[in-house]
Amino acid sequence: MPCLRFEELTERNVQDAVRVCNSSLRYDSFKASTIRRVTFQDPNIEAGLAILAYEGEEPLGVAIGCRRTKQPPELVDPTAGWIKVLAGIAGKEIDELGVLNSICEKVENELSRLGAKNVRVSDMASWHVWPGIDLRYETILEVLEDRGYSKVGEAVDYLVNLRTFDIPRRIAKIRESLCQRGVSITLAEKDECDIISGWVKARFGPCWAFEVATSFKNNEPGTIIAKDRNTGDIIGFSTHGSLEPNWFGPIGVEEKHRKSGLGSVMLFETLRLMKLKGVSEAVIPWTSHLFFYTQVPGIVGIRHYHTMSKRLG
Ligand SMILES: CC(C)(COP(=O)(O)OP(=O)(O)OC[C@H]1O[C@@H](n2cnc3c(N)ncnc32)[C@H](O)[C@@H]1OP(=O)(O)O)[C@@H](O)C(=O)NCCC(=O)NCCS
Repeated sequence: MPCLRFEELTERNVQDAVRVCNSSLRYDSFKASTIRRVTFQDPNIEAGLAILAYEGEEPLGVAIGCRRTKQPPELVDPTAGWIKVLAGIAGKEIDELGVLNSICEKVENELSRLGAKNVRVSDMASWHVWPGIDLRYETILEVLEDRGYSKVGEAVDYLVNLRTFDIPRRIAKIRESLCQRGVSITLAEKDECDIISGWVKARFGPCWAFEVATSFKNNEPGTIIAKDRNTGDIIGFSTHGSLEPNWFGPIGVEEKHRKSGLGSVMLFETLRLMKLKGVSEAVIPWTSHLFFYTQVPGIVGIRHYHTMSKRLG
């Protein structure tokens, strides 16, 4: 068995990780900023879980593991482990399957040593890259299945071409009728961050609240809110550019206001704002609301993921 050398992922070798990810994961385009977001910028980061594999000086593999030890506090569970990213390419003496298998084993052992009892690939919400493994990454799925993982969930991403995006007449009419019924839809002000993320947390949980709050760190807040003008109550929100500049979401509507077109109006308004910021291709990540999003014109791709999991030890 050829010998791989493992190194902790640090700022020094982050470009090696980017190179391996972009050679191995051909349906993705990794930037150093994404690697940093899911490693050094994740408050749950722990030593030993973000690993590069080298054959001599040549980087061949990346595994980014993690446990939810700090954030969000409501979801902390030190026995729950994730592998957020797994990537591998063939070297001189070792094939791709061999690299993936070795680096996966290494990160599983580290997770186990720290106390994880279960591991999932790769839906570590709010510090994730994907909700699972893209079905086209057959070698990764093969390695995971051989190592005892099985499917525990699935989701899709929609890829939307915004170059020719426009608001359909149908949506403009719904917006007009909502406006006449006293609903306002506006871009949130910077000082509304706490009130809106608090509203989101109470209804949709701490991860979405974190993502909404993060969208306020951009130059211009990335969240629009719908309010009932008569009461001043928030009744819906829609966010963009929070985790990645071209990501849509999350979006949510107060339960009793659903099915009246508000979600669709906010969806289209958010995509319009993304287009105006220069986003040419938007990603609507991690959803199972298939028909809510198929109404968007310009869908150029759908990525299908399986979330994989196994017990450790
Ligand atoms: C998803 C959500 C935001 C939709 O909000 P909404 O105000 O009910 O949305 P609308 O009334 O505009 O549209 C709802 C329906 O429009 C339908 N639709 C799609 N194309 C349509 C068209 N051309 N004409 C009319 N309706 C259409 C969709 O089928 C959708 O049905 P679904 O909600 O059962 O999927 C809302 O259900 C929600 O808050 N859910 C919980 C949070 C959530 O899951 N968010 C999405 C995470 S990816």
